[in-house]
Amino acid sequence: MNIILIGFMGSGKSTVGAALAQEISFDFYEMDTIILKKTGFSDMSELFAKKGEGFLRDHELSLAAELSEKKRIIVSTGGGVVMNPNIIHTFKKDKKGLILYLHARFEVLAKRIKIDSTPRPLFSNIIQAKKLYDFRLPLYESSSHYTIDVSDKNIGEIVDEILQTL
Ligand code: S3P
Repeated sequence: MNIILIGFMGSGKSTVGAALAQEISFDFYEMDTIILKKTGFSDMSELFAKKGEGFLRDHELSLAAELSEKKRIIVSTGGGVVMNPNIIHTFKKDKKGLILYLHARFEVLAKRIKIDSTPRPLFSNIIQAKKLYDFRLPLYESSSHYTIDVSDKNIGEIVDEILQTL
């Protein structure tokens, strides 16, 4: 089984994924990091500016297929993987991937992103970001097997809740 973490930007997929991986001795993969390394862009702003969002989604799909060949891994996805249902289907193929949605209220995410230096081209305008959040909420819900509310919890509490869910 593989554990796939999905959720909006700032929901803590990477931090939680790394902590969970250590706890249960699974290998950990961060999709954004792998894609930037493969494509040679320094960050997502550069990738979006030079190649556009479709380029990212194509890479996410082929990386999902590559990662799905592995076993006992935890994957931190980019917040937009739900925009292409094929990416989710690929992870779920043969019942291999358990999809966990890390849900947080928009205010919580906005606060976290404000103090995080990671370039996020789709969170540069707060009104647009809220629209995207509202649009994606039902997609995260329908794509996942379980929802973990991470709004008011620390990493340890979130990892514990995931372990109980598993
Ligand atoms: C995106 C989320 C980002 C990154 C890219 C696009 C999105 O990842 O993949 O900037 O469409 O929500 P994080 O969710 O890790 O910030």
